[in-house]
Amino acid sequence: MAQHDAGGDPRSIDLRLDRAHSARMYDYYLRGKTNYAADRAAAEKVAETWPSVFVCAKENRSFLHRVTRVLAEDLGIRQWLDIGTGIPTSPNLHEVAQEIAPEARVVYVDNDPIVLTHARALLTSSPEGRTAYIQADATDPEAILGSGELADTLDLRRPVALSLNALLHFLPDSTDPYGTVDRLMGALPSGSTLAITHCTADFDPGTWGDIQAIYAAAGTATQVRSRSEVERFFSGLEMLEPGVEVAHRWRPVADGGHSSPEPVEALSDSEVSLWVGVGVKP
Ligand SMILES: C[S@@+](CC[C@H](N)C(=O)[O-])C[C@H]1O[C@@H](n2cnc3c(N)ncnc32)[C@H](O)[C@@H]1O
Repeated sequence: MAQHDAGGDPRSIDLRLDRAHSARMYDYYLRGKTNYAADRAAAEKVAETWPSVFVCAKENRSFLHRVTRVLAEDLGIRQWLDIGTGIPTSPNLHEVAQEIAPEARVVYVDNDPIVLTHARALLTSSPEGRTAYIQADATDPEAILGSGELADTLDLRRPVALSLNALLHFLPDSTDPYGTVDRLMGALPSGSTLAITHCTADFDPGTWGDIQAIYAAAGTATQVRSRSEVERFFSGLEMLEPGVEVAHRWRPVADGGHSSPEPVEALSDSEVSLWVGVGVKP
């Protein structure tokens, strides 16, 4: 098991249960069990403001499953770098990838200690493949790219799928998210891919102002982005069809694989409010 230790025994890590954390609020939206009173209080405020937050979270996971299948089956990808992994939620990325390619290798990265304390569930690789967990901040790509766990798990001479799902809206422009994505993709060879999901206020600006205020009050900075701002993350990459789309419209499948998404026509763009896309490095 490869795992950076954020200060010793995970049991001694201060999880700051007194304040809401984005990973645990998202776990609540996914109807998970790894959330606490402060997380639930903030998440319930979001749900009162925007009841479709549960739909958004589910569609986000569904995209993650679909895109992992497309990358493994159609593009032959066998290595993933997933940053902003979140609290393990079955099926995790490596479980979807290894169903198709048991030899698939996945490096998970998150900066929240709650994810570290649950990382064991991410390290259940098939015997042929491998998974690793790195406790690191997305705004420090060099720490991620330079880590021993990454070097032991991924071969950076072969294509890697960089997965930034529901992460970049936690990186305001002041943290240089475009530079971060460029530095990460710059380290990966031709044939590597970038998959992004990103919350947007394009369909319902007033509501998103309120949601961002709830996160800000809980101590989490956010920045939702427009379609063109999300497209900018893919500069220099060749987009897979259908380009940047609302999550439920990106290659919908009747059998969602694992998470049985709603039929496309049953959802509105504002209920989902997530831009998604996949680019390939030429
Ligand atoms: C909404 S969850 C998404 C989880 C998963 N990627 C998914 O799409 O289902 C966002 C995750 O990003 C993590 N995160 C937020 N800011 C981060 C940062 N600067 N560096 C690393 N992880 C971060 C949070 O801890 C949380 O686990």
